[in-house]
Amino acid sequence: MKIEKKIWPKYFDKVVSGDKTFEIRLADFECKPVDVLILREWDPETKKYTGRVIEKEITYVAKTKDIAFWPKDDVDKYGYQIIALKSAFKDLALKRRSIRAYKPDDVSDAVINDILSTSILAPSAGNLQAWEFILVKNAERKKKIASACFEQDFIMEAPIVIVVCANRKKSGSKYGKRGEEFYAVADACIVSAYIQLAAADRGLGSVWVGAFNNGALKEILKLPDYVEPVAVLPLGYPAEEGHEKNRMSLNQVLHNEEF
Ligand SMILES: Cc1cc2nc3c(=O)[nH]c(=O)nc-3n(C[C@H](O)[C@H](O)[C@H](O)COP(=O)(O)O)c2cc1C
Repeated sequence: MKIEKKIWPKYFDKVVSGDKTFEIRLADFECKPVDVLILREWDPETKKYTGRVIEKEITYVAKTKDIAFWPKDDVDKYGYQIIALKSAFKDLALKRRSIRAYKPDDVSDAVINDILSTSILAPSAGNLQAWEFILVKNAERKKKIASACFEQDFIMEAPIVIVVCANRKKSGSKYGKRGEEFYAVADACIVSAYIQLAAADRGLGSVWVGAFNNGALKEILKLPDYVEPVAVLPLGYPAEEGHEKNRMSLNQVLHNEEF
């Protein structure tokens, strides 16, 4: 559900910058996690909307008439403070795990849109953004994709599958062979990693499926010859925890000055 609310300019800017991650509102309307709050900037001096709008998905709603947790004397003396908490990048990197079992719950278009519009902030060679996304929800097509991925059947379970592709023509037009063979694929890989992180940030699970029959996948998705599938990303609310992180120690892969 989408809910529209007014917001004053000084608060609008703080929401845009990401500093303000909470809203204090009268509980005179219904809202719940995954609903989207549409905040329209409204200037109390001119009493007009400025035209700026920002959409934010609700992650948590706490309702109360009075907070009985602290002694009334302390509340009268100090009052309440509402504190916004930011999750650090390292938390997100730790949170993202390959997830291969999904709940059947639908993932809303607003969430997918938000994940993708965040992910395209990724860097790309010459800013050519040589990536393409194919969104697949159709059960029959998901089944064909799973089969093209050498029967990795968990793909079928995901409510949505994003196939990230490299547009060789886009990078090739500026960078020739290096663009076609390397930059386009690099762009698609980076944006895929961003998608996995943005999905994890939204509480969604995903896994990078790279084992597939190229020709079969191209045919299923009707990709032109210059568009190459790079990552099949099944996405859904996790029905498993995934594995603990297991990584080599840094000194096994870190070289100083020379290999
Ligand atoms: C290029 C690439 C290809 C991958 N292909 C598959 C795959 O075909 N099937 C699969 O289940 N996982 C695949 N994975 C996921 C890896 O197995 C997983 O990322 C790795 O074991 C680390 O676990 P973590 O993602 O939970 O940290 C692939 C990952 C990458 C980056």
